[in-house]
Amino acid sequence: DMTVADVAQKPAKTLPDAQTVTSVRHWTDRLFSFRVSRPASLRFRSGEFVMIGLLGDNGKPLLRAYSIASPNWDEELEFYSIKVPDGPLTSKLQHIQPGDEIILRPKPVGTLVLDALLPGKRLWFLATGTGIAPFASLMRDPETYERYEQVIMMHTCRTADELAYGRELVENLRHDPLLGELYGEDFANRLLYYPTTTREESPLMGRITDNMTSGKVFQDLGLPPISPETDRAMICGSLAFNVDVKEVLEGFGLREGANSDPKEFVVEKAFVGDGI
Ligand code: FAD
Ligand code: A2P
Repeated sequence: DMTVADVAQKPAKTLPDAQTVTSVRHWTDRLFSFRVSRPASLRFRSGEFVMIGLLGDNGKPLLRAYSIASPNWDEELEFYSIKVPDGPLTSKLQHIQPGDEIILRPKPVGTLVLDALLPGKRLWFLATGTGIAPFASLMRDPETYERYEQVIMMHTCRTADELAYGRELVENLRHDPLLGELYGEDFANRLLYYPTTTREESPLMGRITDNMTSGKVFQDLGLPPISPETDRAMICGSLAFNVDVKEVLEGFGLREGANSDPKEFVVEKAFVGDGI
């Protein structure tokens, strides 16, 4: 039987909206991913974000926006995170371990959802850094492949080690039993992956903006240039990246849409600030 002392020692669910960490993986000294239990009542659309965090030193919740990186059918929730050395949240969050609790407000929102785009043939995911997180969700959602013949994931980071999370995710998807059952061997041609680095030598290099305006990515993948008749896009990176990619897409004749007004592309900030 439990004594009063046992009860006092048992970790109580003291946090509001507490969820339990189930696994943590560190990818570099600046990047990690983790999985948490999913509130039974939480419904979300792949690509949306929620507020998560920890209790601050003042006893109040310290919350930040995080894209849900797992697809909406997953029984757990996955997140992919930066570690900002002096960041109020991530200087602590980077130390979480399985069994720890985090706060998760179950109110998903966001513009990077399939419903915010008009139907099309090809869907481009354009991301830098942790901006790949919403696409980690959308790439794992069969609905994405029901709506589009081809999905192209362009991800750019400064160095090759920063691409590892996305690279492993795409490789696992290519061996995914559910998607394999749906699309068979053709699936490799349904999900194209174009990872580039800008500050370290690697097989593919250059900024997403440059690789689109020069036509290199279309040549490398054997695709026609982007056109408003066939192509749709979602952008997620720093403010500077988002602004520049938006201009490139508008140059191809695509227009920015929203949940309430679907068009050819949508944009969301991967973080607020100048970057580090
Ligand atoms: P903060 O005080 O929040 O940030 C300090 C500085 O660090 C910022 O000014 C900025 O210059 C830099 N910074 C913050 N986040 C990043 C980042 N992700 N990449 C590069 N530089 C950054 N962060 C994630 O790691 N994963 C996500 O999935 C994610 N989704 C987001 C979705 C939305 C809609 C928004 C607005 C932000 C998202 N963020 C995400 C950023 C996140 O909300 C926090 O900023 C981040 O967790 C750092 O928190 P912090 O308290 O440690 O530092
Ligand atoms: P670059 O190394 O040429 O600046 P950051 O770490 O600064 O957020 O950048 C992440 C990645 O996004 C880097 O590869 C960086 O390339 C690229 N990037 C940064 N700003 C832009 C932009 N305005 N347009 C296109 N790519 C960008």
